[in-house]
Amino acid sequence: MDEIIRLEKVSYAYEEDGPRAVDGLTLSFERGSFTAVLGHNGSGKSTMAKMMNGLFLPTEGRVTVDGMDTADEKYTWEIRKKAGMIFQNPDNQLVATVVTDDVAFGLENLGVPPAEMPERINWALKQAGMAEHAFKAPHLLSGGQKQRVAIAGVLAMRPEIIICDEATAMLDPQGRREVLSVMEKLNREQGITVIWITHFMEEAVRFSRLLVMDRGRVAMDGTLRRCSPMRKSWKRCT
Ligand SMILES: Nc1ncnc2c1ncn2[C@@H]1O[C@H](COP(=O)(O)OP(=O)(O)O)[C@@H](O)[C@H]1O
Ligand SMILES: [Mg+2]
Repeated sequence: MDEIIRLEKVSYAYEEDGPRAVDGLTLSFERGSFTAVLGHNGSGKSTMAKMMNGLFLPTEGRVTVDGMDTADEKYTWEIRKKAGMIFQNPDNQLVATVVTDDVAFGLENLGVPPAEMPERINWALKQAGMAEHAFKAPHLLSGGQKQRVAIAGVLAMRPEIIICDEATAMLDPQGRREVLSVMEKLNREQGITVIWITHFMEEAVRFSRLLVMDRGRVAMDGTLRRCSPMRKSWKRCT
């Protein structure tokens, strides 16, 4: 297996000697895979997600992203670029007054040369289906559109992994469909590894792998064998 993320005996406690929000997880994600993560509130999904791009460092164990240890400071930036995250509340992720500036914001932080920016921004907005809204004010967009701007902001950094932590939880059904469709397309056409944390069981069935978390551990890890028109490469349907 070509692993892009690997967790080895990973635990996380918010307080020293406190309970483990993530408890001895050993798990990996294949490059180009499309995984949904389910689990009750408090089961450790967000804590795990934040360890997968180095936002949190494990209390015990080791997390590697494309072979780079998240605890090794020299990789911090490279890991953040490689693994983008989308959170629940789109309003907290948008900073600028115009959509294009929002997408540019992350690139400026990365030190991307200004001459490269327009092409990257246009590409990212197009991928997210937001090109026609490029010069609008983010606060005038719908929730689904705002999340797609946030996705474009991550995409402009050319990530290989996108981790969505309940990215549709605050959206209406239309917005949820829009955002999920964008992630399906990015996985299928760009080969981006997608980790989709969700509360919605009906979303989870669209993924090829399903992980269920419980009390900081993996309670179930399964591959769906479904015959879906979206996945023409699947040969075996049972
Ligand atoms: N900032 C925090 N401080 C202390 N405990 C926390 C914090 N965030 C989460 N926890 C605890 O860690 C456990 C896992 O939480 P979390 O990773 O947010 O789960 P999920 O995303 O599945 O709802 C829960 O018991 C939660 O109460
Ligand atoms: Mg959470």
